[in-house]
Amino acid sequence: MLSLIRNMLSDKSDDFTFHRFNQSNKISLKEKSGLYIHIPFCKNSCPYCPYIKTAYNKDLAQEYKNALLKEIRLYHDYFGKRDFTSLYIGGGTPTLMLNEMEDILGHLHKYFNIEGDIAIETSPNETNKKDLAKLKRLGINLISIGIQSFDNRYLNKIGRNYNMHSALKALEDVNSIGFDSVNIDLIFAIENQTIDDIKNDLSKAISHNINQITCYPLFTFPFSEIGKIKQLKKLKLPNHLHRKKMYYFINKFLSENGYSRTNVWSFIKNHKNNFSSVTRDYYLGLGASSGSYNGETFYFNTFSLSEYIKSVNSKFPISIAMNVSKKLEKNFWLYWQLYNTTINKNSYKELFQANIEKDFKFSLKLIKMIRFIEHEDENIIKLNTKGSHWIHLVQNYYALKYVNKIWSVSKNNPWPDKIKL
Ligand SMILES: C[S@@+](CC[C@H](N)C(=O)[O-])C[C@H]1O[C@@H](n2cnc3c(N)ncnc32)[C@H](O)[C@@H]1O
Ligand code: SF4
Repeated sequence: MLSLIRNMLSDKSDDFTFHRFNQSNKISLKEKSGLYIHIPFCKNSCPYCPYIKTAYNKDLAQEYKNALLKEIRLYHDYFGKRDFTSLYIGGGTPTLMLNEMEDILGHLHKYFNIEGDIAIETSPNETNKKDLAKLKRLGINLISIGIQSFDNRYLNKIGRNYNMHSALKALEDVNSIGFDSVNIDLIFAIENQTIDDIKNDLSKAISHNINQITCYPLFTFPFSEIGKIKQLKKLKLPNHLHRKKMYYFINKFLSENGYSRTNVWSFIKNHKNNFSSVTRDYYLGLGASSGSYNGETFYFNTFSLSEYIKSVNSKFPISIAMNVSKKLEKNFWLYWQLYNTTINKNSYKELFQANIEKDFKFSLKLIKMIRFIEHEDENIIKLNTKGSHWIHLVQNYYALKYVNKIWSVSKNNPWPDKIKL
């Protein structure tokens, strides 16, 4: 089944290879792009985490800020004062650069027009009321807190540096500030975790009126510490059937409590602004390891902090690029719609001036045949829990296979010549 879905989304003639970026190549930016900024600092080193981050250091944070300001100006000099539909500040733990955030946001507003929501990620240890109020004053209206669990046993197991009380306090503090939307991340399928344990985590989030809840299964990237422990067979994760039961339980429990699915991992209440770092159609990424996509090319900045800081003095810090054919662009679009569990037929028409029913006749017929669909009308195809569960498996596969390849090569080599996926 997995390979069937994979084949459905990819085209055999496409060559999935990233090449070293050639600075003389033209870069383009789509009209409606989002902006992403990566802040690579943390106070904790979580053994499961695949992201590019290093221990927080005040001087290095200053240097990194200056590099980001240069990168903003590089793109401004190249594109002019462009409009962006939203800004997502991810990490790492971006709020560790709170002191530098005023300059970064000031620069962004000076050199670009940011029209929509501004979102930031943080962790329970970094959420005191004073800092949260400052984030709001700076114009940040969406906040995402990496809670992971409210249970000390599992927080310990995954190496988090706070306890249940701090996690609950973070929710109270964030609620007292009044952001437009608050997301919390939870992790499930941790060793020995039961469905009752997940129910307790979800209940705490619901009782605190959290309007968006994102539940990731514990990914074990082979290059991460936890991935290495797993390879040594020292970690027993729940089997496929148990994970599936957990996934179905999360879907059912949140739906009974008034939440609706916005992507394979996330659920929202009251249809307030939802946010996610990856599902915008096109985006420009700034900072070390950030990705960009303009429909024609995927880019990644160098993953090395020191190379990033050095290179922005004279050039774009992009290390690798992969060309995308029109066909592949359409396939990616469909993939991210499936990830969002809602296919919007009119968006396809607007974006590609084409009819989705014609272009994806076989794929759409297939997802109907295998009963992935909850609802369909002239504009929308909405996936059911079965469909969403399968897409979540594809996303697992995609993350562990492709993301792992790009990230493990780029972590070891700041300027790879070639990465074949
Ligand atoms: C950049 S972190 C969020 C902010 C902050 N650094 C924190 O950890 O609280 C983004 C989210 O990715 C998720 N995540 C990271 N590594 C993961 C993994 N191996 N498996 C599942 N989820 C993971 C966590 O839920 C985490 O909250
Ligand atoms: S999960 Fe968050 S806090 Fe932990 S290392 Fe990754 S980015 Fe840092």
